[in-house]
Amino acid sequence: MSNNTFPGSSITGGASNPILAGNKVIHKSDLMKQVMRMVDRVAPSNASVLVLGESGTGKELLAHAIHSKSQRRDKPFVAINCGALRETLLESELFGHEKGAFTGAYAKKIGLAEMASGGTLFLDEIGELSPGMQAKLLRFIQEGEVYRVGGKEPIKVDIRLISATNRELDAEVMKGTFREDLYYRINTITVHSPPLRRRKEDIPLLVEHFLAKSTSRILNRGRTMSDEAMSIIMKYDWPGNIRELQNLCERLQILADGEIILASDLPNSIVNPENRISMDEYDPSMTLYELEKRHIIKALNYFEGNKTQAANALGITIKTLYNKLHEYGEFEKFAIHSKPKKA
Ligand SMILES: Nc1ncnc2c1ncn2[C@@H]1O[C@H](COP(=O)(O)OP(=O)(O)OP(=O)(O)O)[C@@H](O)[C@H]1O
Ligand SMILES: [Mg+2]
Repeated sequence: MSNNTFPGSSITGGASNPILAGNKVIHKSDLMKQVMRMVDRVAPSNASVLVLGESGTGKELLAHAIHSKSQRRDKPFVAINCGALRETLLESELFGHEKGAFTGAYAKKIGLAEMASGGTLFLDEIGELSPGMQAKLLRFIQEGEVYRVGGKEPIKVDIRLISATNRELDAEVMKGTFREDLYYRINTITVHSPPLRRRKEDIPLLVEHFLAKSTSRILNRGRTMSDEAMSIIMKYDWPGNIRELQNLCERLQILADGEIILASDLPNSIVNPENRISMDEYDPSMTLYELEKRHIIKALNYFEGNKTQAANALGITIKTLYNKLHEYGEFEKFAIHSKPKKA
């Protein structure tokens, strides 16, 4: 059973479900072995787990792994993306609503938290929750019951909570944008999902895995990677992490001429990452987020870390610059005061 209620959510059955069963956390590096030991240790408990890590590092996959190694494995794993919906819609998706609760509520609706009862509720991008939803979520976690929108009676639910974010949530708490009490509730245990550049030993196994499981494998092309292509891939820093590697493998398999992927099949953005940002050449692997992040960091490096000058040149306020650096996890690096660069 896989039943998407809206684009930001999914419900999957127990570990026997093929969607979950195929999702092995491929790894070989000592760093990931440590992470998996942590996963094994926390899985059987009912503790709330917060998975932290950059975009594309496998946070959702780790959340799945915790669920499928827990006693709740045969119960639902319900994922909801907190950033995908505005507050009122998110509330009725999460907690449900009674018939007639608002215009358009023609029938009673069971919320995702209630559907997850007995299983695991995965709150993805929890750092995006509005203050109002943070308060409602806190009440739900503390009481273990939901109120459907327009409902008067609390409904008991039994869920194990796993959350994830690519934000520095402790910094958000310090800034006052994320509630401290909620932070402690969702964060009994923290699991860090490390960026791919810190565990490059995993790359060959991941490539093998993605080439073998891609739907294009029936094309019988690009089944393996040449040593030369692999050594280029190993040098690259993978800012989009495993998701970027997966996308590349799928593309290479479609575009390769023969059975073996050669260095000449690799896109220029991987071979010459320095030239990656070119204003007139579109790079399909570059997200707007990544482009902006790189541009901002280049500006800071150009002005030798002077944030006032960098913000001026970028045409943004210094506050926006600080927020962005926090978001990228680069704040510490540029935290030291520096003198203005001479023109
Ligand atoms: N160790 C791994 N082994 C196999 N596949 C992986 C691994 N890590 C990540 N993936 C795959 O990479 C893709 C990205 O993983 P996932 O969606 O879990 O990342 P994420 O951290 O939640 O990303 P985002 O922050 O963008 O939501 C998924 O298709 C996932 O199955
Ligand atoms: Mg995710």
